[in-house]
Amino acid sequence: MKYSRIIGTGGYLPEKVVTNDDLSKTLDTNDEWIRTRTGIRQRHVASPEQDTSDLALIASQRALASAGLAADDIDLIVVATTTPDMVFPSTACVLQDKLGINNGSAAFDVQAVCSGFIFALATADRMIVSGMAKNALVVGAETMTRTLDWTDRGTCVLFGDGAGALVLQASETPGVLSSHLHSEGRQRHILNVPGQIRDGKIYRSPFVYMDGGAVFRFAVRVLAESTEEALAHNGLQSADIDWLVPHQANSRIMDATAKKLSVPPEKVISTVAGQANTSAASIPLALDYGARQGCFKPGQLLALTAVGSGFAWGASLVRWG
Ligand code: ACO
Repeated sequence: MKYSRIIGTGGYLPEKVVTNDDLSKTLDTNDEWIRTRTGIRQRHVASPEQDTSDLALIASQRALASAGLAADDIDLIVVATTTPDMVFPSTACVLQDKLGINNGSAAFDVQAVCSGFIFALATADRMIVSGMAKNALVVGAETMTRTLDWTDRGTCVLFGDGAGALVLQASETPGVLSSHLHSEGRQRHILNVPGQIRDGKIYRSPFVYMDGGAVFRFAVRVLAESTEEALAHNGLQSADIDWLVPHQANSRIMDATAKKLSVPPEKVISTVAGQANTSAASIPLALDYGARQGCFKPGQLLALTAVGSGFAWGASLVRWG
């Protein structure tokens, strides 16, 4: 087969909602500051009993239902996460078991933080095109709120938990047109969770550290650049984009990216107000939102682009339907 194609999407957000007003009860912040700087109004937070794989499970079941496939039809699972259930095994292996899949097919995680879903999609796409798999479950799932210092107003207001999934199937008709991935490890100091488990203890901080201004400038530049690279690779222009589906970091980053690409606001999928930044889950959640709202029509061109700590970033162009 020449292509992989999206045939189903699913999403899941934990029940507990924390609004900006809720945060302002324990933190020196307020709804107006958070909304005007980020566009975020609320975030979902996983319950203590929920692991990342539990969020991924519900999103995956919904994606399978929308694709009309059974779990056992899946012969590849790629989970993008930076908040795995445990150090090992991979969250993808846990998910495979929770889905009841026992067909011996491959399941593994990719870790590229907020850009993880683009890396997962690119990996699954190339594995399908090369004949290694026919039906892949590509998942972005995160419990980012567990990496937050809830007394640090500069970071804790930005993130939320959730999972999104899509089913990618081998196809003769175009789906994923191309993906373009990049990393720049020397920028790792501007955004990280430096902690590690060592000798039975947590060594270094287990919380998100961020230089917000540096992240902002880097993000806007590379989101637009990688989208332009993908367009040029396919002989397309930004006017050909029907829907821009950017990583949902915050509305100012998304607005600036859309402006750089000359994509009008009405062609940008935005879920950040209700979900905040769900890291690797944000693009599949946005795709699921767009699909269920009936935004995407068969043959339309979707530009997906994401950036995250590493730094790592990339873009994929997808023909819908
Ligand atoms: N509530 C109230 N005041 C706050 C808050 C808050 N939650 N957070 C910071 N402030 C204060 C600061 O302490 C500072 O006060 P001071 O002037 O007295 O020192 C003031 O607001 C301005 O702070 P800045 O950091 O300059 O605010 P800025 O306008 O740059 O906005 C923000 C900060 C929203 C973090 C911005 O830099 C940004 O969007 N960065 C990108 C970060 C991002 O999206 N990260 C997500 C992870 S990476 C990714 O997904 C790509």
